[in-house]
Amino acid sequence: MAGRPQTLSHTLQIPLEDELGDVLEKAMSCAGLSPEALAEKSGVPVEGILDAIDYRPELSPADCGRLAAALGLNEVGLCALATGKYPLPDSEGLPFQVWPLRMAHGIGVVNAYIVAAGDAGRGLLFDAGPGAEALESVWPREIRGIDGIFITHIEAEHAGGLCGAADRFGVTDAFIPSGARAPLGRPMGERETIAAGGLEVTAFRTPGHCALHNCYHIRSAVPSARSLLVSGDLVFAGSAGGPYYCQRQLRAHLRRVLLAVPADTVVAPGHGPMTTAGNELRFNPFVS
Ligand SMILES: [Fe+2]
Repeated sequence: MAGRPQTLSHTLQIPLEDELGDVLEKAMSCAGLSPEALAEKSGVPVEGILDAIDYRPELSPADCGRLAAALGLNEVGLCALATGKYPLPDSEGLPFQVWPLRMAHGIGVVNAYIVAAGDAGRGLLFDAGPGAEALESVWPREIRGIDGIFITHIEAEHAGGLCGAADRFGVTDAFIPSGARAPLGRPMGERETIAAGGLEVTAFRTPGHCALHNCYHIRSAVPSARSLLVSGDLVFAGSAGGPYYCQRQLRAHLRRVLLAVPADTVVAPGHGPMTTAGNELRFNPFVS
């Protein structure tokens, strides 16, 4: 099925990448706590913790509060996940078109994005999915040219389609995090800005999920207009990427980047639905 431009209804149909159990598991792993150790530290029965990890959350608000305190998580966001009511704000009103390209990979789904400033059928590609076939299966018919490719991090599910997309559209401007190795792509470092396709793209260097990871802040020529942050595997709506490189740096950069952009900036993650910077500063369990 070909991709289509971002709408609010589109966002609402997409499930969160992580449920309560996933968030607890990530936080327990970061804290080096077993379920038993967390039960002892929080006073929450271990059976309740194991049920939550097994996607059968029956934790009371008081239990959620104790777990949040024991794990250093945002209590309001954790309770919202526990009740299945994590807020997803309006992500409409951008001054350019955004196509989320959702592709199956393994047991999950990965996102890439096309951002187009005009109606000329050209845009910028952010991440490239697991491969050329996957990208082709969701490619919007309206987009016939690509003026630049920006990769958040070199993992198969996010960068596997880089060469195929560059070949197909004859793209010479591709960008990867400074220090990363890929068959093509120029390094882009902290606060470097590229003008392409009628848009301005600024990189934030955001190690944590992996050592070499960028987020990209995309702005139109209108200074007061709403902007977009392609966040890769740094921040998801209601969660964060696995902290495989450094959980301390991941949480520090997550907060830093969300504070560095306007609160109404739409956040487009590598997995799950879109959200906003202000929403994640307020509710994301990993922002406390
Ligand atoms: Fe990923």
